[in-house]
Amino acid sequence: MQNRFVRGIRYVPTLPTVLSQILALLNKETSSAQDLEAIIAHDQALSSKVLAVANSAYYGFRHQILTVTRAVVALGYEEIRNICLGASLMGFLHPSSFRNQKAAELLWLHSLTVADACMLISDRLDPSQRDTAFTGGLLHDLGKVVLAAFFPDEVAALKELMTTENLPYREAEKALDMDHGQVGEALGMHWDLPSQFSEVMGHHHMPHSGLLHYNLVAWAHVADYLARRIGLGHSGNPDRPEVSKVVLGKLGFDMSTVSELRGRLDGRRPVIIELWQTLLRG
Ligand SMILES: [Fe+2]
Ligand SMILES: [Fe+2]
Repeated sequence: MQNRFVRGIRYVPTLPTVLSQILALLNKETSSAQDLEAIIAHDQALSSKVLAVANSAYYGFRHQILTVTRAVVALGYEEIRNICLGASLMGFLHPSSFRNQKAAELLWLHSLTVADACMLISDRLDPSQRDTAFTGGLLHDLGKVVLAAFFPDEVAALKELMTTENLPYREAEKALDMDHGQVGEALGMHWDLPSQFSEVMGHHHMPHSGLLHYNLVAWAHVADYLARRIGLGHSGNPDRPEVSKVVLGKLGFDMSTVSELRGRLDGRRPVIIELWQTLLRG
């Protein structure tokens, strides 16, 4: 049974051309650096953003990178694609157009922190999935971003309900029939995102073994917990973060692995903040 927000997704605008071109690269096995460079070359704002991020402390190169081609050589195609995705998505859903600008900024910081944590987990378990892991993390709460952007009255009602009824966030979402996972999954279809990211958006709070891309979803689940534990950014959910023991077990993690990852993520705070500021700057 579709909730009313899922039905409302069809009224959410389609993606800007550049953003759908970048997303199309995620779908194509054979896409190349040339395809990406051609997209960037047609968008002055995007190319300056790529250079700003490539020269930021997030990557920490000692020499200045002056051209997009050099940036692709230095950072690699997938990394540049991720920067482009982050820059154009955060430009399209920019906090300045949200009713609650501060909350939207913090939600993007939460998303970037989860993206970074997903990479830390992938480095440990399967480094070949690093870039997909970053994208999954960046997109995991897109349902929330879109609810905040296009349904601000309902998001205000959700906050109100949590206060008046003293309900946990996820309970209040259910009571109002606005589960952000379901909304995210519908959005993935609406925007034709690769199916693994729709699964991450739909199931990161409760990964189940029937998923086609279980690992990616499970990484986002643990990364979300880590990001909320270090308190960088804000997902809008004020409840105490919890992580599934079943998921940890399936990934082969114990609590000491979790606290080690948490410490590493905490150490990356300054570079994540710099990436966030660079991506949001106009
Ligand atoms: Fe979430
Ligand atoms: Fe989250």
